[in-house]
Amino acid sequence: MSTVNFKDLNRLGYGAMVLEGYYGGIDDNQAVEVLRHCIEKGLMIDSADAYGNGHNEELIAKAIKGQRDQAFIASKFGIVFDAQQSGSDVETGWGFSLSINGTKSYVTQALDASLNRLGTEYIDLYYAHYPDPNVAIEETVEAMAKAKDAGKIRYLGLSNVTADQIRRAHAVHPISAVQYEYSLWRREAETDLLPTLRELGIALVGWSPLGSGFLTGKVDTVNEGDFRTNNPRFVGENLKANQDRFAPLKEIAKDLGITPAQLALAWLCHQGDDIYAIPGSRKISRIDENMAAADIKLDEELLAKIDRLMPVGATQGATLV
Ligand SMILES: NC(=O)c1ccc[n+]([C@@H]2O[C@H](COP(=O)([O-])OP(=O)(O)OC[C@H]3O[C@@H](n4cnc5c(N)ncnc54)[C@H](OP(=O)(O)O)[C@@H]3O)[C@@H](O)[C@H]2O)c1
Repeated sequence: MSTVNFKDLNRLGYGAMVLEGYYGGIDDNQAVEVLRHCIEKGLMIDSADAYGNGHNEELIAKAIKGQRDQAFIASKFGIVFDAQQSGSDVETGWGFSLSINGTKSYVTQALDASLNRLGTEYIDLYYAHYPDPNVAIEETVEAMAKAKDAGKIRYLGLSNVTADQIRRAHAVHPISAVQYEYSLWRREAETDLLPTLRELGIALVGWSPLGSGFLTGKVDTVNEGDFRTNNPRFVGENLKANQDRFAPLKEIAKDLGITPAQLALAWLCHQGDDIYAIPGSRKISRIDENMAAADIKLDEELLAKIDRLMPVGATQGATLV
């Protein structure tokens, strides 16, 4: 069994989705090297059966070989790509719909397939990727709790859920973490979700904490084939408006002698001890740069300034969830 407990993790982990070509390519050997580096540094690795349609978990299998007990692996289930499987259609704000299956039998089936791909007997933190609109969240969580009792999962998580769904799920079995988009350009979690999580003692794991790369200040345009062409925040007038809105962030980072990515992650770390984040990068040097943000101190005056510059709802363009 893994020797790494959720509460002992670095609050900045690693999002492995980036290894599947959504933001540009990387070969498998390099990807495994990146993952091994993350394990060595004690970072939670976040994956999903949907990333690369299972390929992401296969990469992780190679990286954890011989050191499973040193790693903390999170994965997710529920997005269905297989035409043989049925799911409920869920519209996203990025112009495509997803097919989601949260039935009891599918939870068991998806978990066993993930364990098989990962080459491990347990997943440390297992999330329902999206709630299935046609299945009660209680049913999904009951199946996850059963898998935990069987030793196949250590901690239960939910992703992209509402405050109400969290309350109902938590009443069935304690939920350890909720994953939701959270960053300087997506702060809506603060209004409803975060107060509920705090009341129930559940951690928030912020996905796309660098705004899918936007908050690094390095994305001027997105090219054809880049997954971000689906994201309305990166397109046309929205992109221009967002660049103008966030220009002061770059200046603040420069004055502090840190990178914009580090400022965005340091800001997240200042939002509470219960906030985790899983930035993704294909480059080891950037992973180290991002990790170092956990030690950057921002004073109250600066935090208040950032609040004024980038309040909830400041970014233009629809969100995925
Ligand atoms: N639950 C959900 O529904 C959901 C949805 C989306 C994502 N997620 C999770 O969140 C994780 C992170 O999200 P994400 O990868 O979409 O977005 P992200 O972490 O906000 O940004 C990743 C992008 O930033 C770039 N980057 C990272 N560090 C950088 C640095 N220091 N300087 C310059 N560029 C940098 C990466 O490019 P390079 O590779 O070139 O460095 C990549 O293009 C995913 O891996 C996944 O685990 C979950």
